[in-house]
Amino acid sequence: MRTKKRGFYFRVIALSLILIQCRNSDTVPQLGKNSIKEVIAVMTPQEKAMLLVGADPGFPRGYPSGFGGADTLFDSQPPVVGATRKVVPGAAGNTHAIPRLGIPSLVLADGPAGVRIDPNRQDTNITFYATAFPIETMLASTWDTTVVSDVGKAMGNEALEYGVDILLAPALNIHRNPLGGRNFEYYSEDPLVSGLMAAAFVNGVQSNGVGTSLKHYAANNNETNRMNIDVQVDQKALHEIYLKGFGLALAYSKPWTVMSAYNKINGTYCSENSYLLRQVLRDEFGFNGATMTDWFGGRNYLNQIKAGTNILMPGSSYIVAQFAEAIKNGDLDEKVVNKAIEEILSVVMKSPKFKDYKYSNTPDLELHSVVSKDAAIEGAVLLENRKNTLPIDKTGLHKVALFGIGSYETIPGGTGSGSVNSAYSISVLQGLQKAGFTIPEKLIQENIKYIQEAKKKAGQKDWYFAPDIRLEEKAWKLAYLEQSASECDIAILTLRRTSGEFSDRALKNDFELSDTEKDLVKNLSSSFHKAGKKLVVLLNIGGVIETTSWNQNADAILNIWQPGQEGGNAVADLLLGKADPSGKLTMTFPKKYTDVPSAALFPNPKDNPQSAIYSEGTYVGYRNYLAKNIEPQYEFGYGLSYTHFNFSDFKLVADHSKGIISVAAKVTNVGNFSGKEVLQLYVKTPQNKYLELKAFKKTRLLKPGEAVLMEISININDLRDFNPHAGGWVLVNGNYEINLGTSCKNIIDTKEVEL
Ligand code: BGC
Repeated sequence: MRTKKRGFYFRVIALSLILIQCRNSDTVPQLGKNSIKEVIAVMTPQEKAMLLVGADPGFPRGYPSGFGGADTLFDSQPPVVGATRKVVPGAAGNTHAIPRLGIPSLVLADGPAGVRIDPNRQDTNITFYATAFPIETMLASTWDTTVVSDVGKAMGNEALEYGVDILLAPALNIHRNPLGGRNFEYYSEDPLVSGLMAAAFVNGVQSNGVGTSLKHYAANNNETNRMNIDVQVDQKALHEIYLKGFGLALAYSKPWTVMSAYNKINGTYCSENSYLLRQVLRDEFGFNGATMTDWFGGRNYLNQIKAGTNILMPGSSYIVAQFAEAIKNGDLDEKVVNKAIEEILSVVMKSPKFKDYKYSNTPDLELHSVVSKDAAIEGAVLLENRKNTLPIDKTGLHKVALFGIGSYETIPGGTGSGSVNSAYSISVLQGLQKAGFTIPEKLIQENIKYIQEAKKKAGQKDWYFAPDIRLEEKAWKLAYLEQSASECDIAILTLRRTSGEFSDRALKNDFELSDTEKDLVKNLSSSFHKAGKKLVVLLNIGGVIETTSWNQNADAILNIWQPGQEGGNAVADLLLGKADPSGKLTMTFPKKYTDVPSAALFPNPKDNPQSAIYSEGTYVGYRNYLAKNIEPQYEFGYGLSYTHFNFSDFKLVADHSKGIISVAAKVTNVGNFSGKEVLQLYVKTPQNKYLELKAFKKTRLLKPGEAVLMEISININDLRDFNPHAGGWVLVNGNYEINLGTSCKNIIDTKEVEL
């Protein structure tokens, strides 16, 4: 009896123990079921540290040792969670998972022109290509936020369907100087264009339920010594030029994350700069997501967290250990850490991974190639069109003498993290052939042979992220060109440029044409003109080049930028007039490099610069050319069309109570082609002596004779200048000059308003 009783008690105790244990594991807070605060409350220092540090210390293919710049710790430490890299091979990084708390690992992938992931995987023959869209500079040249948002929607869908949670884009640094190696990844020399385009892109991408990362915050305007360079910039220029775009992007969209820039600003690394990360980004711009460092950016890890960085990317077990220790011994204030984690977990909860989205790995690439082509058509800029050379009337002209390596190997985009592994890229040759043009077979073969030999001679580039090696054009004999002119109806020459991460462009043979290129333009021009025929030059470029010395030789110049994978098809439509070029420049093409305001002080790799001195202040891009009366070759906002527009009924109403200035104008297509025009509003404030773009709007497609009433409004708050003495934005009393134009120089009407 006694033993029976004892057995019963044992069973009760054992059962209770099991129940207690079950209840315990049930009560471990789970993200989503419990509040973020409850989840944080049970985190160990190690777990907290893991969330603050990326989970992928492995070097992407081709990163050279010492990439970190800060130190070499990354080289010597073993990977933390190498397995997560296998989720989406070729993605740029991952965050840590903490399964016991229901926290998944997020996948982060570049970038601004398409989702950058590896197209091939070891365990399958299935391919994972992504659509190569036009570079950001070209997207901005559309001056159409709808186009940019459509591209964002398509790109976001590819991210979602390939298992990516956060797309590391858009990049919106200012084109401070045409030699900037990553200008192609950025929108403009103007913060308004940059900010509004970025917002449109973010809204497009995030409509898929994946996140974005505004980058690189801030003043990351050159690649030379980018991990350490100290940008020395005054407060007015910092706020009005370099931070303004981020502020606008955050006013019109809610990106999940922001990536800080590599460089220092006035002595402090951006990722260690609490003024930038807290005061400006969160308090002034209202950002409430998570910030991350650029890959291996910054130097003092503890200071990064203290200053307001949420995640150090791409990660290192060493830093996790360092943080865990710092949390334990109080070096990292637990309150600061908990706040940072709260912000990270809010992002995690929005992610497809957290929602257990079953991605297909089969986005609709065919549909997206149409989006890519449309954007390339909208962003091409017609720089010259003498005697209506374009569009080409195919009935009379069909045999094309096609020159230039870029015609045969058209560059879809830049190199580095902004590159995309697309399934194909249509060259100008392919586009023209598909459109029914004939290019002499002999010429094609000679070009292909030359390109193959030139590639062999140039050899392989050192590592994946290095800019592509530039192939010199063939030195075609004059007699050959003359023969071509007698056989063909027209000459098309494509000049191409490439650039990318880690280096800025050179003045010689890059910004300026090489001697061979100059000769080719000159000789093609003379040969074809002598035969009564024309030369069209296509610019397949990622940034500004010199055009003054040779543009007279061309009958038409069409800037097709780096147009993404559908470039050749877009070019054919434009050349044939199936579409009207309606793109406008978002930066200045100077007459000569020395006209560029930062020309003398742009960091030169040879000088091993430690700082970049922005002594031009706010006189960046068109602001400088207008203020100092320097004639550019092609000004900001410029771009021709096959048709002409008339502007009338310009009305301005300032509604002080609503804080809005409304401007209306009638735009009439008075030419013979259907086309679009961009209305640009430039304001001269009493304080600043130059015009600044404050609003813009592109018309819909207008048929010949058709008119549309356009209304644009400016928020009076956006007319404030940054006053360093007041430490903030101030609306100066006085007269404001409101200019309606189709470029910063072509002003159609001016009105004054007193504020
Ligand atoms: C670039 C970032 C990019 C990151 C991840 C860095 O080198 O500066 O723009 O997102 O790599 O690939």
